[in-house]
Amino acid sequence: MVDTSPPKPTASDSGPRCLATILTEGREPADLYSVEGSRLYERFAEFDDSEQRELLRRLSRTDGDILELAAGGGRLTLPFLSLGRPVFGIDLSPEMVRILRDRYDHLPASRRRVSLTAEIADMRCFDLQRRFGAIVLATTSVFLLDAGGRQQLFASVKAHLASGGVFLLTVYAAPLRPGATSTRVIPLAGQHPEVVLLSDLVGDDGRTREISALHVARSEEGALDVSSYSSVVFVASEDELDAELAAAGLTRVESIEVGGSADAGALRILGYSA
Ligand SMILES: C[S@@+](CC[C@H](N)C(=O)[O-])C[C@H]1O[C@@H](n2cnc3c(N)ncnc32)[C@H](O)[C@@H]1O
Repeated sequence: MVDTSPPKPTASDSGPRCLATILTEGREPADLYSVEGSRLYERFAEFDDSEQRELLRRLSRTDGDILELAAGGGRLTLPFLSLGRPVFGIDLSPEMVRILRDRYDHLPASRRRVSLTAEIADMRCFDLQRRFGAIVLATTSVFLLDAGGRQQLFASVKAHLASGGVFLLTVYAAPLRPGATSTRVIPLAGQHPEVVLLSDLVGDDGRTREISALHVARSEEGALDVSSYSSVVFVASEDELDAELAAAGLTRVESIEVGGSADAGALRILGYSA
């Protein structure tokens, strides 16, 4: 008998992806960290304070300068200034670094008494010619890199960690199920109604995730304005990360639960020392 029932949707047919295809008339999404993508990312991430409290509490028990990798526009980097120690932030996106410097320049003079150095650099192979009491890689950004990239990253981290320093990185608290999807609708502040649909789609093999942002707005003239952005990231378990970091000479010394919101999902901060 011929099966005439419609095919069952798979992860790659997810609702958000279908919606993006319909609304953008099939245009390929742009890179989430391109110039336009970085600007949009910062508009919806700026007010997200997840991990901030836990990182500040942990960093207050460290000494020396603080380095944030993949710092973006400073969602966490700028709050770190409240610790009163010099903060460094690196990011691969020149637009993110521009936003971070601009936000710092617009802080009240009292907050600018603490120095911030923001540089364009690749977290896989940076050379800042100094060591830090704490190095942070938050927002699960370790998964932006594949296993080869992480190997380079961890060697660079080790080379920049001061004696007694700690490397803090954020991961998901629960393993990601293959095919799982989640979508958040984030309204943006502005004169006209604007939203971002931020979706997270775990690949059918459970080893990659696609983060996509669909920006829907009305133009000045009242026309529908839609653009889409995406970034594919990798998935690794905590055991895999522990083994990779051990190979670089770093040992897990702690694990801090982050009371995630229902939206963002629960996270965990892992701490490593030499
Ligand atoms: C998810 S965003 C996180 C930004 C910021 N930490 C936050 O919490 O808002 C990931 C950031 O990683 C940056 N990035 C991607 N690949 C990178 C690399 N190889 N080296 C440094 N930064 C990178 C992107 O430009 C982006 O700013």
